[in-house]
Amino acid sequence: MKICNTIDEIRNHVKIIKKADKSIGFVPTMGYLHDGHLSLVKKAKEENDIVVVSIFVNPTQFGAGEDLESYPRDLDRDFQLLKSQRVDFVFVPSVDEMYNKAYKTYVDVEGQITKKLCGSSRKGHFRGVTTVVSKLFNIVAPNRAYFGQKDAQQVAVIEKMVRDLNFDIDIISCPIVREEDGLALSSRNSYLNSKEREDAAILSKSLFLAKKMIENGAKEAKEIKKFIIDNINTVDYAKIDYVEIVDAKTLEDVNTLQGDILIAVAVKIGKPRLIDNIKVEVK
Ligand code: PAJ
Repeated sequence: MKICNTIDEIRNHVKIIKKADKSIGFVPTMGYLHDGHLSLVKKAKEENDIVVVSIFVNPTQFGAGEDLESYPRDLDRDFQLLKSQRVDFVFVPSVDEMYNKAYKTYVDVEGQITKKLCGSSRKGHFRGVTTVVSKLFNIVAPNRAYFGQKDAQQVAVIEKMVRDLNFDIDIISCPIVREEDGLALSSRNSYLNSKEREDAAILSKSLFLAKKMIENGAKEAKEIKKFIIDNINTVDYAKIDYVEIVDAKTLEDVNTLQGDILIAVAVKIGKPRLIDNIKVEVK
């Protein structure tokens, strides 16, 4: 496994890979890897000749007062995990390497798709994500890039950007990996103390129950939202950011459920703001 810290270094390897007509699967991450990240790596390994993983805690996607400084980091552990997955290249640039002092260019997907859900409480977040992902796509030039459904809105935004800007890259969306009690794996789960960790299962529990409710015939988004909110509020210190039911593709609000819908929640449990979602096919 080769570790590259500069854009020139990884680009030279990419040139050689392309010359040999080999395909590149790319997994962008912010590190502190867990089985959710590794599920993307495994899929990339299956579908490509060469796998590149990036580890970069991207400052432009963190807002003021968010956890950029305290974001968990453990590069040595990450390298070991990636080595055990037989990853070919890890790209680990510094902030200066990605954003020099004169940096001025941003990629912004406009409209509701970036304004609602996480976009409304994390202003500028998706602009930071689409900017860094565009840069990484230009540097790594992958055939396929792998993203987790855990960040469903992120996948929708990246897919839109790829279509709009004609990136010649297939975006592969992978299922959410969960702990045994249902909690979606996240680097930010490391902020939870043991009581909060136990209570954090309320997010997935209420989503699974809501799915059952829909399968049993419930059709009104309002009723289901209320059910989820009441459920989450059984954890008395949980602070709900949003509970939304939207069209799974367009992320537009849905009142009466029909077709493929996405139920998405963001809740503060102690220090971290946790997100989770579930897709439901309404017949
Ligand atoms: P990060 O939070 O490190 O996540 C990297 C990738 O892992 C994302 O595509 C995310 O959806 C996926 N992932 C995280 N937890 C998962 C889980 N439990 N199951 C399945 N996949 C999971 O998302 C980012 O980094 C950044 O925004 C990035 C795209 C790297 C741009 O900076």
